[in-house]
This record gives sequence, structure tokens and C-alpha cells, in this order.
Amino acid sequence: MDALSLLHERVSMPLLEAPGPTSEQLEQIFTAAVRAPDHGALKPWRFLLIEGEDRAALGELFTQAALSDNPDLPAERRQKTAGKPLRAPCIVVVIAKAVEHAKVPVLEQQISAGCCAQNMILAAHALGLGAMWRTGSMAYHPTVHQGLGLVPEESIIGYVYFGTPVRQRRVPKLETSKFVARWPESDND
Ligand SMILES: Cc1cc2nc3c(=O)[nH]c(=O)nc-3n(C[C@H](O)[C@H](O)[C@H](O)COP(=O)(O)O)c2cc1C
Repeated sequence: MDALSLLHERVSMPLLEAPGPTSEQLEQIFTAAVRAPDHGALKPWRFLLIEGEDRAALGELFTQAALSDNPDLPAERRQKTAGKPLRAPCIVVVIAKAVEHAKVPVLEQQISAGCCAQNMILAAHALGLGAMWRTGSMAYHPTVHQGLGLVPEESIIGYVYFGTPVRQRRVPKLETSKFVARWPESDND
């Protein structure tokens, strides 16, 4: 697949199954991630790889977090929360480690980590895999941050789910003209 087709045709894959990426494919994915644009070469990111049985431990952590908000969480919601990480064979937690910097605002560092996530998704697509960027309340919960070992200046940019797409998705057509304008406007516009 050529690079432009990849960029034009990538879609998120919410339904993913085994097999997940091989270790060689993961290396390709992480190599793409760390080529993200990065003001000041701060490398303000790190990644946690969670696969196989370890996904259940993440589900347990999500459940603990949900129970800390609502100790009476109904069994059905508890089960749903625990099962979230099982939606794909492989998850990468993308963490921004943004520090105060004289020239590079924290926001720019977080954006840079977001670019890592997008590079990973594009690399997965190029490898014939599927991927989906997810966040939800479990990306922001202090219990989850603690359980995953985040320090205060770190934040979760996303959980990127990887696997084999269960089925292909149609690529939606978007009109670029809705989002693009020339500035300053000319009389002919
Ligand atoms: C920062 C971020 C967080 C997201 N979190 C979720 C999420 O928690 N759940 C979800 O269904 N989609 C989430 N999405 C959206 C999907 O990853 C995806 O972009 C969306 O479903 C559109 O599909 P497409 O990428 O094929 O256009 C998130 C996207 C971004 C950029």
C-alpha cells in the first residue's frame, strides 16, 4: 500500500480479534510511534504494552476504579468494565510525560504523544492489522493512573487497541472544502 492510500483509507476498527501484532510487527509499530513530531526533542512519551492474560489485570484495575466511584456498582456494569480490555488481543497505553519547559508548553508535549498514537495506528493499518484509539473515564481515573504507575506529570493519551479486524469498514468520504479556507479571503471566494 502506498503512503497516500494508507493515509486516505485508514479507518478505526472497533471489532478486533486474535491474532494481535507479532513481536516484529510491534517493533515496527513502536518505531513509527517514536518518529512523532517532537518540539525540543523532549521525547515526552512512554508506552505500556498489555497483551494476553495481562489484559484481565487491566480489567481488574478498571473495576477497582469504577468501584471506588460507586461501591454499589451493579454486577452487570462491573462485568462490562472488567471486560473492556478484552476487546482486542493487544493494548498499548500511550502516556505523555509532559514537563514544564521554557519553550515547549505541556499541551505541545501531549500533542506529540498523541502523534505517537496516530503513527502507531497508521503503522498497524500498513501491516494489515486493525487499531482503535480509546480513552473514556478510565484514561483519567486516579486509581488507574496509580495502578499503571503514572507519576503526577504524566497523563494517559489513549489506550490503542490492536488486533485483526473482524470485518472491514467502509471509508467515509469527507469533503475537505468544509474544513479548509484561504486566508485572507479573496474577492473571488
Ligand atoms: C483522543 C481520542 C480518544 C478517543 N476515545 C474514544 C473512545 O473512548 N471510544 C470510542 O468509541 N472512540 C474513541 N475515539 C474515536 C475513535 O478512535 C475513532 O477515531 C472514531 O471512532 C472515528 O473512526 P475513524 O477513525 O475510522 O474515523 C477517540 C479518538 C481520539 C482521538
